[in-house]
Amino acid sequence: MTDYAKQPRPVTDYKDFNMSLKAVTSICSYRIANLANAAALLWENLQDINWAGFYLMTDGKLVLGPFQGKVACTIIPLGKGVCGNAAAQDRTLVVPDVHAFPGHIACDSASNSEIVVPMHRNGEVFGVLDIDSPVFGRFTEKDREGLEAFVRVLENHI
Ligand code: SME
Repeated sequence: MTDYAKQPRPVTDYKDFNMSLKAVTSICSYRIANLANAAALLWENLQDINWAGFYLMTDGKLVLGPFQGKVACTIIPLGKGVCGNAAAQDRTLVVPDVHAFPGHIACDSASNSEIVVPMHRNGEVFGVLDIDSPVFGRFTEKDREGLEAFVRVLENHI
């Protein structure tokens, strides 16, 4: 098994990365296509992650959207898991150790840390960006800022 904790963690240049997202999404007006490409961009560019994708608010709950990684749970009620809490509280949650998060929903046993960023449309929570990592404490303040900016770009194209 790979010892992720011992690997170096390259820092993502979110300014360049988010410009790539803007370039890719601004030429397309289809929501699912843009979310699918956004998941692919995250998957290709972020180090030490094992899942990246979206849950979208549908009938008052979060339903699995475009993603990269292993098969995941399809429905997350508001207030449940990291995703449901981030959506209900409308704030980014950075979880350095998912095993210590009460009610964490384990989709992939390799996940040890997670970040969830709410996405908005017309002032309402539209869904969440969810990224998992096998590395404890993978997501730093720089990642939080960069991924919140990533979501702001995406919100203009979904
Ligand atoms: N861990 C999430 C569930 C989604 S998977 O990580 C893809 C949660 O607790 O909400």
